[in-house]
Amino acid sequence: MTLSPPWPPAPLEDAWRDALEATLARPVTASALARMVAQQAARYRGEGGPHAHEDGLTARLLFWFPRDVVKVARPVAELLRGGVLPTRPLRILDVGAGLGATSLGVLRALAGHRTVASIDAVDLDGAALSKLRGLYQNAASRGLLASGVTLNTLTQNAAEGGLPRGPYDLVLLGLAGVEITQGLSTPEARAEALSAVLTRLVDTLCDDGALIVIEPGSRDASRVLHHARARALALGQTVYAPCLHSGPCPMLRSEHDWCHEDYREGSLPAWLVGVARDAGLRWEGPTWSYLVLRRDRRRLVDALAPTAPNRRLLRVIEAPTVTKGKTETWLCGDLDDARHDTRALELDRVGKGHTVRLRDTRRGDIIQTSTENTRTTSLNIRLSPDDWERIAFNHIDPSHG
Ligand SMILES: C[S@@+](CC[C@H](N)C(=O)[O-])C[C@H]1O[C@@H](n2cnc3c(N)ncnc32)[C@H](O)[C@@H]1O
Repeated sequence: MTLSPPWPPAPLEDAWRDALEATLARPVTASALARMVAQQAARYRGEGGPHAHEDGLTARLLFWFPRDVVKVARPVAELLRGGVLPTRPLRILDVGAGLGATSLGVLRALAGHRTVASIDAVDLDGAALSKLRGLYQNAASRGLLASGVTLNTLTQNAAEGGLPRGPYDLVLLGLAGVEITQGLSTPEARAEALSAVLTRLVDTLCDDGALIVIEPGSRDASRVLHHARARALALGQTVYAPCLHSGPCPMLRSEHDWCHEDYREGSLPAWLVGVARDAGLRWEGPTWSYLVLRRDRRRLVDALAPTAPNRRLLRVIEAPTVTKGKTETWLCGDLDDARHDTRALELDRVGKGHTVRLRDTRRGDIIQTSTENTRTTSLNIRLSPDDWERIAFNHIDPSHG
C-alpha cells in the first residue's frame, strides 16, 4: 500500500467536530460561536475592544483550530520529500503552542510516515495548554491522532528565555512569532526580535533537526519573516524551504511585495461554513507564510535535484493569471546570481495537447525548466509546456486520480 503524502492534506474528518466539542465540554450555539469568531477575527486584525478570554479560546478551539491545522502539512511534506526527517521517534518542541494546531497538525501529517515520541508544548496561556491536553486525548481516543505521545506542557513566556533545551528533532513556532513580537512598533524591531527567538530555537535542534515557522499570510507578518530569513542566512543557518535559493529575498526589493501561501481547495469543514458566513468572514481557504530552518546544509532544492544539469527548479509564487491567449505568473528560484524571481508567460497556442499547462499550476508548486529558458536578464521568461514540468504540486491533481 502506498501512503499518501501529507500534502495536499485530506479534508478534516467529521469526528474532529466531536473531539473539539468534547474538549470544550459545554454547549455553544452556532450564532454565539459566530459572534465570538467575529470578535476574535477583529482582535487578529488589531481591531476591536476587549473581550472575554474564554470566548477567544472557544473561537480558537472550535473555528481556528480546524482551519489552521492543515497549514503545517506543507513543510512536513517537504521535509519528507527531501528525505531529511529523522526516522527515529521524533521529539518535538512547540513554542506558542496554544491549542496545538501546529503540533497536532504535525502528528496528523506524519500519520503512517513517522512516529512521534514526545511533544513539549510551551505557551504563556495555561488555559490554552489545558485545552491542548484535553484535545489530544479526545482526538487520540477517536483514532484521529496517534496515541502514546508524551505531551508535556509548560506555561512560560517564550520571549524571556527559559525554554527547554532539547535537543529536538522538530521545533515549531506556529502563528506565534507575530504575537511574541506584537509589542514592537517597527517591522525592523519585530524582525530583530523574531530573529533572536529563531536563533534560540535553532540552538535547541539536533544536528539533523528542523525548525518550522508558520506566520499569518498578511503582508506585514510575511515581510517580518522575510527579514528574519535574511538574518538567519547571515548567521549561517540553512533555509530549507520554501525558498529554492539562498540569495536575497526578491520580495524585500519593494515594500509592497510579500510571499505567502494559500490553499484554495482547502475549504473549511462543512460544519463551519455557516459560522464563517455569519461571522462576516470572506472564505477563500487558509493563507499563511512559512520558513524551515536547519543547522546542517541540507536544502529542499538540492534534495529535489533537477533531472539534468541544464535544468533549474523554480517555485510558483503567485496564482497564475489567465487572460485571452496567455497565462502569466511569477516564479522564484536559482535563476542567476543577480536575480531570483521572474515573470513567466505561456501562450495558449504553444504546446497544445499537453495535459499540464502553466494555467494548471498553483501558488507553491515547483516546476523544472531548462536553463535556456531561465538564462535571461530581462524580467520575463517565456515557457512552453514542451520545456517545463511540474515536480511538486500544491493541490489535488485530477490526473492523479
Ligand atoms: C495564534 S496562537 C497560535 C497557536 C498555535 N501555535 C497554532 O498554530 O494555532 C498564538 C499563541 O502564542 C502564544 N503566545 C503569545 N506570546 C507568547 C509568548 N511571549 N510566549 C509564549 N507564548 C506566547 C499565545 O498565548 C497563543 O496561544
